[in-house]
Amino acid sequence: MMNPSAVVVQHLLKQYGSIAAVNDINFEVAAGTCFGSLGPNGAGKTTLIRILSGLIKPTSGQAWVNGIDISKHPDAVRRHIGVVSQAMTTDLDLSGRENLDIYARYFSVGKKERTDRIKILLERIGLTNRADDLVATYSGGMRRRLEIARGLIHRPRILFLDEPTIGLDPQSRRVVWELLEEFRRDEQLTIFLTTHYMDEADRLCDQIAIVDQGKVVVLDTPEGLKKSIPSNKIVEVVIEDQTKKDDTWSLETLISRLSDDPFVERVSHQTTDVLSEQIGLQIDVNNGVSAIPILMKTLQGWGFKIQAIGLKQASLEDVFIHYTGRSIRKEEGQKVNFFIGAGVPRKMG
Ligand SMILES: Nc1ncnc2c1ncn2[C@@H]1O[C@H](COP(=O)(O)OP(=O)(O)O)[C@@H](O)[C@H]1O
Ligand SMILES: [Mg+2]
Repeated sequence: MMNPSAVVVQHLLKQYGSIAAVNDINFEVAAGTCFGSLGPNGAGKTTLIRILSGLIKPTSGQAWVNGIDISKHPDAVRRHIGVVSQAMTTDLDLSGRENLDIYARYFSVGKKERTDRIKILLERIGLTNRADDLVATYSGGMRRRLEIARGLIHRPRILFLDEPTIGLDPQSRRVVWELLEEFRRDEQLTIFLTTHYMDEADRLCDQIAIVDQGKVVVLDTPEGLKKSIPSNKIVEVVIEDQTKKDDTWSLETLISRLSDDPFVERVSHQTTDVLSEQIGLQIDVNNGVSAIPILMKTLQGWGFKIQAIGLKQASLEDVFIHYTGRSIRKEEGQKVNFFIGAGVPRKMG
């Protein structure tokens, strides 16, 4: 094969008593791409990563990682993959450099190569000047970066990450995203991640499998997913700003008059540039297709020139609700273990 799939999964099933944590799923991940498994707590994401990284055996079905059958050769699979688990597992009582060194030895990376690789990775993750401090003194974001470097110490072809930014602040999350994009590009990595964050899946993934109750509900590119569902609730319109020429109009009166229309549920202003000659509005309606001609007529009747009008594309959140019948956010309240291992330093001593 010229470009074998990095991961192939066929009829994979993992049964825990009466629960099918992974319930007869199928997919392929092309080498060099980023694949995301997006779903709520309990969807089976961690179970799937554990199976693919050779930590647990499936009840039935088959999977190949880098062309290797995981059931037949789990040890061989482990040499080709890096794993960053959800709970942070770097040793708090060791320095960052020592943590990397232990892993490199575990994978039998030779001394010279070990030293060079650790040096480069520490630079890449921006921890060179903290490398000899204890991990206990690191922030959650620093620790997460160290764990990514550790996962890459033996130059794996595929990196598995389970909820890579759970519990991190927005700034640290962005740093992790950039790091993953850079490593993917520079090391020709395939990335397989799980997440329950829409923005993360949208930003990083070429393909997203929406998973729920052990099943792949739908699988496509982020764009493909958004195009696959009807979105008929939000009209975006750009009009020429009349309010500067005509004293009877202000932005407030425009929004208020539009809101008076019975089919309009909410109007919000999009353009914030004061110098702009345009006004961008987002208008929530119950039926966009029928609302557009009415809105056009109304605005033109008031003397506003319309520059653009159309339906807003669905978000990944809309896609999730469409296919699963509920919002992923509602599930978060039930996450009992949400912050365990997520960078909160454990009691020392
Ligand atoms: N070792 C186990 N024993 C029994 N049930 C398990 C075990 N691991 C996971 N499960 C169950 O399998 C389902 C999927 O869990 P998990 O893979 O952790 O989901 P996610 O990572 O998407 O939150 C859940 O219902 C969970 O309770
Ligand atoms: Mg999980």
